[in-house]
Amino acid sequence: MATSPSAVENRRDAGEEKGAEGPLFPELVGAAPPSPAGPIEATELATLATAPNIGLPKLAQTARFSVRQIEFVFKARRELGEVFRMRGVIPGGPVITSHPDHVKSLFMAKPEQAPSLTGESPLRPILGPNSVLTAVGPRHMRQRKLLLPAFHGEAIAQYVEMITEAAEQEIDRWPVGETIALAPRMQAITLDVIMAGIFGIEGRPAPGTPEAALRTAIRKTVAASTWPTSQLTELLHVGREEPMGLMKMAIEMIDRPTYAVIRDRRRAADLGERRDILSILLRARTEEGEALDDKELRDELLTLVLAGHETTANSLSWAWERLTRNPEPHAALVEAVRRGTGVAGETAEERVEATITETMRNRPVIPIIGRRVQVPWRLGDYGVEPGTAVAMSILLVHHREDVYPDPFAFRPERWLGRKPGTYDWIPFGGGIRRCLGAALAMAEQRVVLTAMARRLDLVADRPAPERAMHRNVTMIPSRGARVIIAAKH
Ligand code: HEM
Repeated sequence: MATSPSAVENRRDAGEEKGAEGPLFPELVGAAPPSPAGPIEATELATLATAPNIGLPKLAQTARFSVRQIEFVFKARRELGEVFRMRGVIPGGPVITSHPDHVKSLFMAKPEQAPSLTGESPLRPILGPNSVLTAVGPRHMRQRKLLLPAFHGEAIAQYVEMITEAAEQEIDRWPVGETIALAPRMQAITLDVIMAGIFGIEGRPAPGTPEAALRTAIRKTVAASTWPTSQLTELLHVGREEPMGLMKMAIEMIDRPTYAVIRDRRRAADLGERRDILSILLRARTEEGEALDDKELRDELLTLVLAGHETTANSLSWAWERLTRNPEPHAALVEAVRRGTGVAGETAEERVEATITETMRNRPVIPIIGRRVQVPWRLGDYGVEPGTAVAMSILLVHHREDVYPDPFAFRPERWLGRKPGTYDWIPFGGGIRRCLGAALAMAEQRVVLTAMARRLDLVADRPAPERAMHRNVTMIPSRGARVIIAAKH
């Protein structure tokens, strides 16, 4: 990053002059009033009201939730309050909440009291039941423990150079004066990064290798998943174990090269020394001395590739979709990155961080997550029966007026001198299910956003904001974040 030591000193001087550590704009982030939440006794449950229902037929709710989730949940909150129940996609609920104290109760819950809903998600038939994302209980903990070291900050630091190279090369290829959709370009970068981490390939895999075939298969599948037929296929898969039809074909296309990569790597002479994730997983043994079989490995690898690249790519795409429609924060980012100091005396790093944090608040790529409570639960004034799915609307939490005044405005300066909260800024979820790739995703966003702000003058191709489109469990810019590259530096 192009921040000179003098810029850091300037910032320090500016801070001293103001006598200020802490938020530069304290009025831009507030707090929610407390609300009781957590496991309760059946006797207490009997005294509490049930959450109000959305008064629409089940099918209408499912359709609206899948296509226009933003309008749907905001309307429900306006009409029913911060806890309400919908019927539709997920069996037995879900009750949807948007209070940080409720979120905290679910994140802090013992795993057996509130297992994740990802085990029931539309991703399960694709990723299989064995991956760290889709497993629950002891199996989940085991897989998570195995993978954690590969995603720690220290491990991620080694990727920064590689991410920088991937970003610079990608930017080199972009045409000046033409409209481009950023989402696929961002995906090209993030796919290379995650594949390097998993398979230990520097840069793009060589043509003709199973890794290259896997990369092509994934790119094709992800591109195809925006087709309307895919949206339908997705809905049909909720709660299913096995993939069907189109999805089955796409999975077969990915599975073939995946198994080939696993087979090759098992036989690699240097398996013992390799530091890529696949090799770590191949060497891993449970306490009973068992190794992962090919199917388990395949589930894990596919989870990491799919969870790890589209999300980050779309978060970056949203950042530019927002920046190109918000001239002040855009100019402030460019200025900080190119000069090393920003308009408020902040460093380039602080401005970049604030921009990413605000993008992930304003446009969380995963808009909703959930747990299934196994015991009676309290959510503010309401009681929830055991067995109920409780969803946390990340979108609604991030757009609370009391926590984020002027919530729909894109204002990165909210975050200057302030770290986001654990229960009211939750784009990566939390607790024992918190996103395993959060540090990697943040590193990628920092590097790519900085490189783009330094080298490119970008403008939106149209003034109107891009709508959010829902794909699988993600919320992405509907036109792929289209921009015109006015100049390259
Ligand atoms: C901006 C990018 C990303 C966003 C917004 C994001 C968001 C999320 C969210 C919301 C969850 C569910 C958390 C919960 O239920 O509490 C999750 C889980 C997960 N994410 Fe990410 N993610 C991103 C990037 C990545 C990357 C780069 C990887 C790396 C390979 C990754 C791997 C995972 C895995 C393995 C899980 C499951 C963790 C578990 O259940 O224990 N994600 N992510």
